[in-house]
Amino acid sequence: MHEDILKVLYSYEDIDKRAKELGKIISEEYKDKNPVFLCLLKGSISFTAKLMEYIDVHMELECLRAQSYAGTKSTGDVKLAEFDFDSIKNRDVLIIEDIIDTGITLKKVTEVLNEHGAKTVEICTLIKKLGTNITQIEPKYIGFTIENEFVVGFGLDFNEAYRNLPYIGVLKPSKYS
Ligand code: IMP
Ligand code: MG
Repeated sequence: MHEDILKVLYSYEDIDKRAKELGKIISEEYKDKNPVFLCLLKGSISFTAKLMEYIDVHMELECLRAQSYAGTKSTGDVKLAEFDFDSIKNRDVLIIEDIIDTGITLKKVTEVLNEHGAKTVEICTLIKKLGTNITQIEPKYIGFTIENEFVVGFGLDFNEAYRNLPYIGVLKPSKYS
């Protein structure tokens, strides 16, 4: 598995350190709000778990399955699984995302949460890609910003593989071309 990686962009230690910094800021800003963290499945599982280790105020966790990618390309069509929206009604929601590319997924999720009566909706993303954000979605909290490369690991997949890598790396183009 590791031999398929061209280079490591962020080590486990880098991610842990950044999650700790973000956790501190988020804990302060959401103190007394009992926010709902909305983990977008499946890619955000690892980052959500890591970030939660550093949240030291009350919070609740919900998960929503959102899909828009096939291979290394966004299909532009976002599929959302069934979800009980009562859990976010009148609540301060923080969407936890693995990576923002076009922003299409998050635009759709944000709209749906607002339609169902969320009190506030903000976004925390582990990675933001430069240059492809066509929807102008602006996450309040960003772990790392990267060039337009296809990355895997720490929850991020290529056709469901590599989610278990404990770091974020660039996949060798020979693996998908
Ligand atoms: P967007 O809707 O174009 O912003 O794409 C967001 C979703 O596409 C993310 O939640 C990921 O699941 C997937 N994605 C985008 N870029 C990458 C990448 O470099 N590696 C793995 N998945 C990606
Ligand atoms: Mg994905």
